[in-house]
Amino acid sequence: MAKRLLNDHFSRLAKAKGYVARSSFKLLEIQERFRVVRPGAHVLDLGCAPGAWLQVACQSLGKKSGFVLGLDIQACPVPRSFCDDRVRILQADARELRPVDLVSMHSVHSAAASSWSGGFHAVLSDMCHSTVGNSAADVLRSLELAQTAAAIAVGDREERDKKASLEEMYSTGPAGGRPGVLLPGGHFVVKLLQGSGSQEFAQELRQHFAKVTWVQPAATRQESREMYLVGLNRRH
Ligand SMILES: C[S@@+](CC[C@H](N)C(=O)[O-])C[C@H]1O[C@@H](n2cnc3c(N)ncnc32)[C@H](O)[C@@H]1O
Repeated sequence: MAKRLLNDHFSRLAKAKGYVARSSFKLLEIQERFRVVRPGAHVLDLGCAPGAWLQVACQSLGKKSGFVLGLDIQACPVPRSFCDDRVRILQADARELRPVDLVSMHSVHSAAASSWSGGFHAVLSDMCHSTVGNSAADVLRSLELAQTAAAIAVGDREERDKKASLEEMYSTGPAGGRPGVLLPGGHFVVKLLQGSGSQEFAQELRQHFAKVTWVQPAATRQESREMYLVGLNRRH
């Protein structure tokens, strides 16, 4: 199918099915291939506005337990369709986020908080800036956001060196002391524009996950350099 027709096709289909954006089909495809969100999972969705991934994540939780915490720098209401009271949104800049903010957010709001171990089974990041039309700058900015998401999920070098203070942050349960909010065995999905630094980033992720795969979902605009890295089964 021609590029424009394919893009229009996904936009129309999203509207017809009740999704707030065509990006829903990207996560649906990733979910179908890798089952990154399991029934009852605790999911963190970084860069969640306007909410299509929140819809797919909530649908994937099954009927009872689990929760989805969305975060975006912009205000984003919880979409009406496919989402229920297991979905909460925090308006914040991921680059300034401290894991302790996520812990307190859920202890206040979530009915699931009492059973929450202080970690997430899946961390998803579809964060991106609006592109500035300068390819090298766009790639760099996208890589920085992907690195931010990875630092939240699995910690970064600086955090690992500061293990003691992280232990204080995660004093809420069995996840205590582990840098990064993703639980062992958990899954990570992150968007980035392919270019300088992206292979090195993928290589770095391979230290943390049993398997790391590049994916370009069919609903991605064909002219785009946008790809997703899917990291499966965080190493213990
Ligand atoms: C492509 S949209 C996400 C679409 C979303 N996954 C969906 O399916 O509806 C990218 C989002 O990343 C957000 N974003 C960009 N930088 C961010 C940051 N530093 N912190 C939090 N969100 C950010 C933007 O505000 C934007 O809403």
